[in-house]
Amino acid sequence: MKKILITGGTALEGEVAISGAKNAVLPILCAALLADGPVEIANVPNLQDVLTTARLLRELGAEVEHDTVASRFLINPCPASGHVAPYELVRTMRASVLVLGPLLARHGAAEVSLPGGCAIGSRPVDLHIHAMQALGAQVEVEHGFIRARVDRLRGGRIEFPTVSVGATENALMAASLAAGTTVIDNAAREPEIVDLADCLVALGADIEGAGSGRIVVRGVERLAGGTHAVLPDRIEAGTFLVAAAMTGGRVTATGTRADTMVTTLEKLSEAGAEAEVDGDRITVDMRGRRPRAVDIVTAPHPGFPTDMQAQFMAMNCIAEGVGTIDERIFENRFMHVNELMRLGACIDIEGNRATVTGVEALTGAPVMATDLRASASLILAGLVAEGETLVDRVYHLDRGYENIEAKLSGLGAQIARV
Ligand code: EPZ
Repeated sequence: MKKILITGGTALEGEVAISGAKNAVLPILCAALLADGPVEIANVPNLQDVLTTARLLRELGAEVEHDTVASRFLINPCPASGHVAPYELVRTMRASVLVLGPLLARHGAAEVSLPGGCAIGSRPVDLHIHAMQALGAQVEVEHGFIRARVDRLRGGRIEFPTVSVGATENALMAASLAAGTTVIDNAAREPEIVDLADCLVALGADIEGAGSGRIVVRGVERLAGGTHAVLPDRIEAGTFLVAAAMTGGRVTATGTRADTMVTTLEKLSEAGAEAEVDGDRITVDMRGRRPRAVDIVTAPHPGFPTDMQAQFMAMNCIAEGVGTIDERIFENRFMHVNELMRLGACIDIEGNRATVTGVEALTGAPVMATDLRASASLILAGLVAEGETLVDRVYHLDRGYENIEAKLSGLGAQIARV
């Protein structure tokens, strides 16, 4: 099992190119199943979850060409006649549930293994099922599988009791080919939802309101092939800018979309790390300065993203003052706390609130990653900890960050995979 070894203490300096967004490319790859012609997807990040999704599409019969040099996928969904997403694939990646809507829309049948929980919570799929039923599907959950059938999906009204990114994406994809009009209320508003909608429209879908809480989809008879470039990863960009703030360096993230990162940049500014935006470039210059502690409350977009919570917790660990972090999206997204405390962090947990008292310095130690963003926070802490930090189970990291040690080395970090 590979580990990552970091020797802390270097202020990061330089430019880092941001890859395409993991949480946009995964639903977009699944959306390709809806088309009856080749779909070309550009700016695809080279991530484990992307490879897993490509395997799932091939398992369903689609032809998938992955050009890793050009970061492009060419998908021919036409031969895809399968409708079963097997457990051994779904259990490694919960986002596999995003084939549910496309399979129902294209084949009128879907058997998707229940994803099971993961480190950050139980991760139910009841809202996904609720959406498919609202479009006329018969859905049973038995023997660890979601089994859904429908002659043809028909437009309807989907009212989500709580906001769900994945369920909104399944609803959007299914409604695109349903007969009639669908209204989705209390829809997720994340930029990745907008990017998925843009891709579906490029294939011929009729969608209004993506990015707002109410999305109206007028079903069409078919979706043709087409091309779409995935938007930049706002979480990867945010992670590198937090690294600049923590190490007292100066980093420019290139190929970004600052308009998708408003709350992250606001919180960096509150910490004293004023971001300078110049087109698709965002620079944070914290040379010679220590961040101030900030208070974070995670919320659905346009609130503060839960996927940036662990990174800001790492920053609060060495910031000046006390910062509170309220995690309101997932019930167990503090797995990184115990590991950060092994590095000398001073964190007190009460329910879903972590109170972090900044310390002058962390000290390196062996730590273990438990989930994707927790592993990012451990890397960040290792960059500032005195001595060596050895992060184990880095496969979590590879799910969501493309070549993170190469990108960090390029900024001067002393980091290597061992
Ligand atoms: C997406 O997960 C992202 N993953 C997550 O990113 C992100 O943290 C999350 O949205 C919230 O922004 C992808 O896009 C692949 P949800 P998703 O459905 O869709 C509950 C990362 O680190 N819920 O918005 O699974 C759920 O338990 C990952 O990149 C139900 O109760 O998130 C959670 O508490 C982690 N029933 C809340 O809603 C359901 O049917 C939000 O979940 C579905 C969700």
